[in-house]
Amino acid sequence: MQKRILIIHGPNLNLVGIREKEIYGEISLQKINKIIRDYAKKNNVLVKIFQENCEGKIVDIISSHIGKVNFLIINPGALTHYSYVLRDCIKGCGIPTIEVHLSNIKKREPFRKKSVIKDVCIAQIYGLGINSYLRAIDLCLRK
Ligand code: DQA
Repeated sequence: MQKRILIIHGPNLNLVGIREKEIYGEISLQKINKIIRDYAKKNNVLVKIFQENCEGKIVDIISSHIGKVNFLIINPGALTHYSYVLRDCIKGCGIPTIEVHLSNIKKREPFRKKSVIKDVCIAQIYGLGINSYLRAIDLCLRK
């Protein structure tokens, strides 16, 4: 059966292509989403993509997809490092979740090394730019 994947870009990812280009690259979120959609189509998976800056709205999006998707791929932006709200949601919703990051969070400021959601996710992929999302899709395909 065709797999369904919910993809969420968290706070400030709308600014990719403008913000800190030396870290996140020059490519816009719109282009990132096109690459993701093309890859999903090629691999026969359905993707539904959101970008949301508000923590509570992210929780609403995730909970409204319970039973409707097979996987969640989320780049939670800075929420990664402190949001127990997001952690509880991921744990509680039961959707197998992959945490992704464009940058290498292990090689930046110390506060970025910690993810409060990592251990409620099935995998954490970081530092590969757009390929972090594509490798996450690959992982969903293998599961
Ligand atoms: C990010 C890394 C986070 O630390 C940061 O707050 C972001 C983007 C990444 O994709 O590399 O907003 O999640």
